[in-house]
Amino acid sequence: MMTSEKKDISIEDFIEKLNYDLELEYAAAIQYIQHQAVISGAQYNNIRDELAVHADEEIQHAIQLSDQIDYLGGKPSVNIGEVKISEDAEEMLNQDLKGERNAIGRYKKRIRQAEKLDEYATAETLRNILVTEQEHEMDLMDALDL
Ligand SMILES: [Fe+2]
Ligand SMILES: [Fe+2]
Repeated sequence: MMTSEKKDISIEDFIEKLNYDLELEYAAAIQYIQHQAVISGAQYNNIRDELAVHADEEIQHAIQLSDQIDYLGGKPSVNIGEVKISEDAEEMLNQDLKGERNAIGRYKKRIRQAEKLDEYATAETLRNILVTEQEHEMDLMDALDL
């Protein structure tokens, strides 16, 4: 029997996209580790501590994505996405903010894709990751007075 509703994405394509997300989580962790180390200026003391927390949370996201990819029958990537660095503190924070906003857009899409595939546990994991990314976005907006 044919199902009337067409799947928008195959499980293979979905796994490939999760691997892309994973590579960007590795990149985000590395970027935050570098930024929290080199950012200077008394006005950045609070955000420096936050950046170190973000780094830890991006690693947790990478672990969660790896576990989901393995569960779905894929092989977790060990490639690392592009890392952005700068000499200027405000530019660093803008690079971080851009990365977070990019992640938020990707994870919203990924949640919809997971649900279309009836992968509700993966969708739930992605929702929890999305909550953290929005917190990261807010921390950076505060630091940038946005
Ligand atoms: Fe993340
Ligand atoms: Fe983040």
